[in-house]
Amino acid sequence: MDRIAALGCARLRWPLLGSRVVCFGLGPHRARAKASISKALPATETAEAPGTGPGDRRPRGLEELPGPGKLRFFFQLLMQGYVLHLHHLQVLNKAKYGPMWITRIGSQTYVHLASAPLLEQVMRQEGKYPIRDDMDLWKDHRDQQGLAYGPFTMQGQRWYELRQVLNQRMLKPDEAALYADVLNEVIDSFMARLKQLRGESASGDQVPDIAHQFYHFSLEAICYILFEKRIGCLERSTPQDTKAFINSVGLMFRNSLYATFLPKWTRPLLPFWKRYLDGWNTIFSFGKKMIDQKLKDIEAQLQTAGPDGVQISGYLHFLLNGRQLSPHEAVGSLSELLMAGVDTTSNTLTWALYHLSKSLKIQEALHEEVVGVVPAGQVPQHKDLAHMPLLKAVLKE
Ligand code: HEM
Repeated sequence: MDRIAALGCARLRWPLLGSRVVCFGLGPHRARAKASISKALPATETAEAPGTGPGDRRPRGLEELPGPGKLRFFFQLLMQGYVLHLHHLQVLNKAKYGPMWITRIGSQTYVHLASAPLLEQVMRQEGKYPIRDDMDLWKDHRDQQGLAYGPFTMQGQRWYELRQVLNQRMLKPDEAALYADVLNEVIDSFMARLKQLRGESASGDQVPDIAHQFYHFSLEAICYILFEKRIGCLERSTPQDTKAFINSVGLMFRNSLYATFLPKWTRPLLPFWKRYLDGWNTIFSFGKKMIDQKLKDIEAQLQTAGPDGVQISGYLHFLLNGRQLSPHEAVGSLSELLMAGVDTTSNTLTWALYHLSKSLKIQEALHEEVVGVVPAGQVPQHKDLAHMPLLKAVLKE
């Protein structure tokens, strides 16, 4: 099976694994890839690629793409330890091979794109049902445990239908307005937590490991949005099952890398596959517990107020109440949404702060913009965002 994988996609934590700009099937994608190279790359990018000298606009096929041989790639991953540092390997490979290169492992072939224009071109040619990585590794887990697929594991028409359901009240930018109060509440707790950490630091004003703090903030916020429940990530001491959930996400991602690159026959022999499944099982049981709790609440409301007296409180309630999703389907989809919303958000915030810290001028301009729209003591509302173009630009950047 051949795939076109995109580097530069925000989902670098799943490089080669779950990168969402991934296609399979030789015929049309091969043709697309060929078209992309000459048309999409700026002159400086094409010139970097060996064999693509100035004026050489000839489309190349898979067999002509540069890249490490199978053995070398295997050695880099497992002997040199890049399996847990794929981002470093991507940087090295881009420097060596240019913005488009190929790697092969087992029966899989990956074409890496390390250029925004190339990625843009791949994404712009998508039809109604975009073709993505088949997420075999994730599906293996769902199939083994009899769980429903979510938006990342479904494909084609079924994916489309699921997205029609999930998009309501969630995956469209305007719908974010629904969650302003929920987010403001979590932000208040986050600010209190930061104040606490600063107070406890040696200098009295430092927050150790802000990326970690943002992870806790994002997880708290997304759980509150999805499950309508606070899970205690911003408390001084994180509750035990929340801690177990956080650890299981790391466990699943780390071991999924080994499981991707090692042949299937090693699964019962080496510890990685079992750890990978254990990680997922904890993630799903966390989601299931939340959903079961919500179902109990809905049942209790029905008993006391009758069907017309039930107030839709949030996303999960909306999905379950209108029978948009069965509880079984909700566990599959919400667990994947949970995976989608946490480190994407926290990494984006961390990088935004990093870049702001390096540009005092932009930092000051941003502060001025924000306090100009929302003076101290006033609670920000969704409508305020429309008056903060610089904030939007900073986050997009
Ligand atoms: C700054 C934060 C985020 C970034 C940078 C980000 C980035 C991305 C990217 C690059 C994709 C792949 C797009 C594609 O395949 O066409 C994606 C897909 C997705 N994201 Fe996000 N995301 C973020 C936050 C969130 C949040 C908060 C949620 C909600 C829980 C979410 C839910 C999803 C879902 C469900 C998909 C899969 C779409 C599908 O294939 O049906 N993301 N995201």
